[in-house]
Amino acid sequence: MGPSIDFAVVAVVLAISVFAVSGRPVPLPSKVFQGNKLPLQTSRPYNIAHRGANGEFPEETAAAYLRAIDEGADFIESDILATKDGVLVCHHDVTLDDTSDVANHPEFADRKTSYVVQGVNTTGFFIVDFTIDELKTLRAKQRYSFRDQQYNGMFQIITFEEYISIALDAERVVGIYPEIKNPVHVNDHVKWADGQKFEDKFVETLQKYGYKGAYMTEDWLKQPAFIQSFAPTSLVYISNTTDLPKVFLIDDVTVITEDTNQTYAEITSDSYFNYIKDYCMGIGPWKDNIVPPNSNNYLEKATDEVARAHALGMQVHPYTYRNENTFLHFDFNQDPYAEYDFWINNVGVDGLFTDFTGSLHMYQEWASPLNTKA
Ligand SMILES: *[C@@H]1O[C@H](CO)[C@@H](O)[C@H](O)[C@H]1NC(C)=O
Ligand SMILES: *[C@@H]1O[C@H](CO)[C@@H](O)[C@H](O)[C@H]1NC(C)=O
Ligand SMILES: *[C@@H]1O[C@H](CO)[C@@H](O)[C@H](O)[C@H]1NC(C)=O
Repeated sequence: MGPSIDFAVVAVVLAISVFAVSGRPVPLPSKVFQGNKLPLQTSRPYNIAHRGANGEFPEETAAAYLRAIDEGADFIESDILATKDGVLVCHHDVTLDDTSDVANHPEFADRKTSYVVQGVNTTGFFIVDFTIDELKTLRAKQRYSFRDQQYNGMFQIITFEEYISIALDAERVVGIYPEIKNPVHVNDHVKWADGQKFEDKFVETLQKYGYKGAYMTEDWLKQPAFIQSFAPTSLVYISNTTDLPKVFLIDDVTVITEDTNQTYAEITSDSYFNYIKDYCMGIGPWKDNIVPPNSNNYLEKATDEVARAHALGMQVHPYTYRNENTFLHFDFNQDPYAEYDFWINNVGVDGLFTDFTGSLHMYQEWASPLNTKA
């Protein structure tokens, strides 16, 4: 990595820490002219920055997203939840415990509670019990102990709108990939005065910023977006209000869908794929279910899931690619490039959710460079 990139990161981090200290959000709405941007690349599998460059920065923070854009992300990915006062925010877990300093805030100690979420009794500090102003007093921290801890305490949780602004303000076209996260839980706990529900607010926000159009249309290419969810009824419901492409996420084999209580076998059957393809342009499965590892951490034979989805015209965007040895199967000799090579060239996926956008980008620039450099 060249020194110029290092300086850019330092500048970004400094800029973001100023926001964090002053509490000034990312400017809204986007003030940057949208014309003449370097377009989205569409000739090779999409580099989807999972929770931003969360391998380096605390997940779903502005710093993580800006870093991912710097590193060549095609899409920045986020999980959308709602606060007690109905503001949509970027956060993966329904609780704040593992990725923020909430435990160091005695004023919130009494918020700790237990809710059953997707059939699991979960205890912690729940996003749905905090207002946006309260959330903004917290600071994000790195989830994994083996990742860089130096940014802990520096960055705020950002709103869905701030996340959108980061993508719109990028110097080239950068897509967004927001998830309708835990909609059953959110709709159980958060009520909007106008009677609308979480999914309505989610689509309304996208429309407010001009996101529209089916996959690969002119509108879509200008502001690309994929909408993802593990809850099929949410994706079917919003198909009446937006034709943006939708991706049906598929959880681990032991998990049932949160809204329809369906098993893994049911939602990956031919008949279900046939149903969901009318609403979704693709699926987003956990990669270990497509090519399962054995107990010695070597991969077994691939299932036919990718072939069956492709046969129906659906794309496949598996999750999650991570550089660390603890996540890499032994087939890849602890080399993340070898893993990318396998999934892109042997399995033939159409997009990859990665914690390390920079690594995937460098692999692709090496293996299948674009004519115009990002
Ligand atoms: C959930 O767990 C908490 C903490 O262990 C416990 O107090 C509560 O009774 C449990 N609730 C349910 C519904 O099992
Ligand atoms: C979509 O709209 C049609 C026509 O109004 C309606 O029949 C259908 O139930 C709606 N679908 C969903 C999922 O809301
Ligand atoms: C799924 O299971 C839950 C809990 O048993 C139940 O409340 C809900 O109605 C079920 N949903 C469907 C679509 O069957």
